[in-house]
Amino acid sequence: MKKHVVLYKKLSPALLAKLQDAADVTFIDEPKRDNLQRLREALPSADGLLGASIKLDPALLDLAPKLKAIASVSVGVDNYDLDDLTRRGVMLCNTPDVLTETTADTGFALVLATARRVVELASLVKAGQWTRSVGPAHYGTDVHGKTLGIVGMGRIGEALAQRGHFGFGMPILYHSHSPKPAVDQRFAAQHCSLDDLLARADFVCLTLPLTPQTEGLIGTRELGLMKPGAILINISRGKVVDEAALIETLRHRRIRGAGLDVFEREPLNHDSPLLKLDNVVATPHIGSATEETREAMAACALDNLLAALRGERPGNLVNPAVLK
Ligand code: DGY
Repeated sequence: MKKHVVLYKKLSPALLAKLQDAADVTFIDEPKRDNLQRLREALPSADGLLGASIKLDPALLDLAPKLKAIASVSVGVDNYDLDDLTRRGVMLCNTPDVLTETTADTGFALVLATARRVVELASLVKAGQWTRSVGPAHYGTDVHGKTLGIVGMGRIGEALAQRGHFGFGMPILYHSHSPKPAVDQRFAAQHCSLDDLLARADFVCLTLPLTPQTEGLIGTRELGLMKPGAILINISRGKVVDEAALIETLRHRRIRGAGLDVFEREPLNHDSPLLKLDNVVATPHIGSATEETREAMAACALDNLLAALRGERPGNLVNPAVLK
């Protein structure tokens, strides 16, 4: 008998056909946080789940006694309680690697956009306000040759370092649990404490996952250590930064600006003070949002799920303890 998969992320026709070959599929189009009724109805017979962006809390998981595997179409797994899933015997898989380069591109897009004020000045042109050549009031700051500070030297951190070092001649500082000799050697990078990095970097890029240890990592004290001309880039998770503290810092121009792809609450409220600040570039969590990468992520998640449902050890298993 075919397994039952609840799909809550749109798949391309080719991937959907592959899934339908292997399983009976219930598709739920973008369940909203406040409207999970269809998901609740489908969970009791679900063997597998495939999707992203939904917090599967214990009350939802209690409705899914047959559940064997969740394939998250994301690298981040902060939406899941790993211990709880392991206790329930549910495998969780994510989609690392395939999004590394694209997410690093997003990080660099924010570096360039904030430093060179691309969004602000492009809107001025569109508004018909380009009436004479640009003067000091609209100058940006250089990116090449400046110091790039990377907080969290995982795959995405390395891809940023590669861009900064080889593309823009930037000295690289990084903060992570421990030094990475291969990174030091390849990018002439220097491992340092968080405080040291904050005090020395011209661009502080956050690339680390959200965990209880990283939540609120960057608050008033840490922002206060940054140089007045420095720029904060966040492509990790909004909650790594104390958003209220960041708003105050930016409002008083204690740092030059911020490029933010992620926020404490998403979608960002349209009355967020962040949207009123001209030294902020805000994007709608587009780290991995290209056609190619989203397709690769979905394909990866699908392969993970199908392997798990066949009784094999799936790729990218986040909670291997479940198999013990
Ligand atoms: C991820 O894969 O975790 C990205 O942030 C998209 O959610």
